[in-house]
Amino acid sequence: MARILITGTSGLLGISLALEVMRAHEVIGVDRGKLKSVPFPVIKADLLHRNAVDSILDQARPDWLINCAALANLDACEENPNLARILNVEIPGELAHACVKKGVQFVHISTDAVFDGDKTDPYTEEDQPNPLGVYAKTKLGGERAVRAANAKAILARVNFFGWSLSGKRSLGEFFVKALSEGKTVNGFTDVIFCPALVNHTARLLVAMLEKSLCGLYHVVGGQAMSKYQFGVEVARKFGLRESLISPKSVEGSGLTARRSHNLWLSTHKLSTDLDLDIPLFSTGLDEFYTQYQQGYPQKIRGYQQ
Ligand SMILES: NC(=O)c1ccc[n+]([C@@H]2O[C@H](COP(=O)([O-])OP(=O)(O)OC[C@H]3O[C@@H](n4cnc5c(N)ncnc54)[C@H](OP(=O)(O)O)[C@@H]3O)[C@@H](O)[C@H]2O)c1
Repeated sequence: MARILITGTSGLLGISLALEVMRAHEVIGVDRGKLKSVPFPVIKADLLHRNAVDSILDQARPDWLINCAALANLDACEENPNLARILNVEIPGELAHACVKKGVQFVHISTDAVFDGDKTDPYTEEDQPNPLGVYAKTKLGGERAVRAANAKAILARVNFFGWSLSGKRSLGEFFVKALSEGKTVNGFTDVIFCPALVNHTARLLVAMLEKSLCGLYHVVGGQAMSKYQFGVEVARKFGLRESLISPKSVEGSGLTARRSHNLWLSTHKLSTDLDLDIPLFSTGLDEFYTQYQQGYPQKIRGYQQ
């Protein structure tokens, strides 16, 4: 059993990761005051504060640190590029450096959006990134800062959906909520991605740590689809009206940050090195629906102050 410190525990990935990890390991969360009544200990810290990095590591004395903290809202990054640079580049670099000094294995969460989306085949870990907006540029900067400070770190490029504290953070929640309320929504036909259920992402990250992997990995779902197709699949699974989803182009959609068109990432390296099959999208969607039926969204929302 390892002692695992998780930053960003109130986030979409962080909360489900903590709940998954605690099945087999000891978890300590880092939160700046959003969580209540979670079933694991939490260190209250704002990573922007001086000495926060050393302080959380000294308090927790973990074997592993998984950094899920970020400014992960694309439009917020466009509006506040300086904050995006600090949270997405500088702090990951500091965490990576501190982990080397203290002998802690470090995992940093990056994004599929480091690519410009111009390739038609799946992107591999060998492909050159070319990020389009502030979020993606700072996330690539974070990868570079982590790699420069800590050669043994895991860098995981992810994309996931699941249930969040706010009930609004993921695309899956967006479609379930809007369609349940009978609202019409747009589904982008020209943005391709590989969504994974966040619990599957969490289990893969733990498997990577348990197998002592290091370096860059694509930790996304095994199937590429458009955001429109994703919405339709969610609607069908939940018995909601797929006709409420209008197929649209992302161009001219009014979103501030530029989006890459093709974020089809290969998971070949991950599945080879872990010697397992990446869960199918249908498996993740089935579990997302089962979680819904079993009240998991309410349970997660109940952890918010
Ligand atoms: N969602 C996706 O599909 C997706 C896709 C690609 C990559 N990613 C990456 O995956 C990681 C997790 O994303 P997510 O969707 O879980 O993000 P999220 O829901 O926005 O969570 C971000 C977390 O960072 C914390 N945080 C922000 N500023 C902080 C600070 N100053 N001190 C301490 N904690 C701070 C937030 O705390 P508060 O709750 O207090 O703000 C929150 O817990 C990020 O690295 C993101 O770039 C996500």
